[in-house]
Amino acid sequence: MLIPGDVVVALRDVWKTYDEGNYKVVVLRNINVNFFRGEVVGIHGPSGSGKTTLLKIIAGFVRPDRGEVIVDGYNLNMLDDLGLAMIRNTVVSYIPQDYGVIDELTVFENVELPLLIAGVGKEERERKVKEVLEYIGMLNKASSYPKRLSGGERQRVAIARALVMTPSVLLADEPTANLDWDTALKVLELFKSIKKDFKTTIILVTHDPRLMDFMDRSLNLIDGYLKDKTSIRTPIK
Ligand SMILES: Nc1ncnc2c1ncn2[C@@H]1O[C@H](COP(=O)(O)OP(=O)(O)O)[C@@H](O)[C@H]1O
Ligand SMILES: [Mg+2]
Repeated sequence: MLIPGDVVVALRDVWKTYDEGNYKVVVLRNINVNFFRGEVVGIHGPSGSGKTTLLKIIAGFVRPDRGEVIVDGYNLNMLDDLGLAMIRNTVVSYIPQDYGVIDELTVFENVELPLLIAGVGKEERERKVKEVLEYIGMLNKASSYPKRLSGGERQRVAIARALVMTPSVLLADEPTANLDWDTALKVLELFKSIKKDFKTTIILVTHDPRLMDFMDRSLNLIDGYLKDKTSIRTPIK
């Protein structure tokens, strides 16, 4: 498959079916989509429409039944589980809906984890963690435990951890679902800054239609099909 240079994520003919007891549920049907470098894309759809499954396929946590997934030049079909683990948190970072922050570790230690896994030395780890905590405005909470933080702060820790290896692609599952509106807006502003400062491609999944205005582009997941809302909005000349 030939991929233009500024396409960072490409899905081609991706299908995903789950076995649910006696029957099969087709969650994703023939998904064909490109995501470009440095855009913020919203994927909307009702609960159960397959949004989380789609993100997990891009992150390499779930393998599609068929089709190709290319992430920053890597064809995920060609990678074994170890290969997928290696590109995760280096090329692509996934922030789960519950943030996935580890309560037993401090804020600093949470953000340090991907660097430890990547074998980065102590001094470099310390420098990078401090840098990213400063960037997201949480340096003063470095030695706090997540249980003492607000929802918005926990989300920031999750974003910092996802950002510390400067991935090309940041995936966030319902990042504002558990936040009040003012805090949600601040998190969205943070995503916009990340896009601008690091040229990161950011894909956000949400069932909240209010977030649509904050995206460069919006896609709709309905009945397993992905539809481009942006093109629907384009006026006919
Ligand atoms: N691991 C799984 N095994 C079986 N069914 C699943 C699994 N994960 C998701 N599903 C089903 O696939 C559908 C889509 O789920 P999901 O991707 O979580 O949707 P969304 O994030 O849009 O709510 C749902 O019907 C869900 O029950
Ligand atoms: Mg979901």
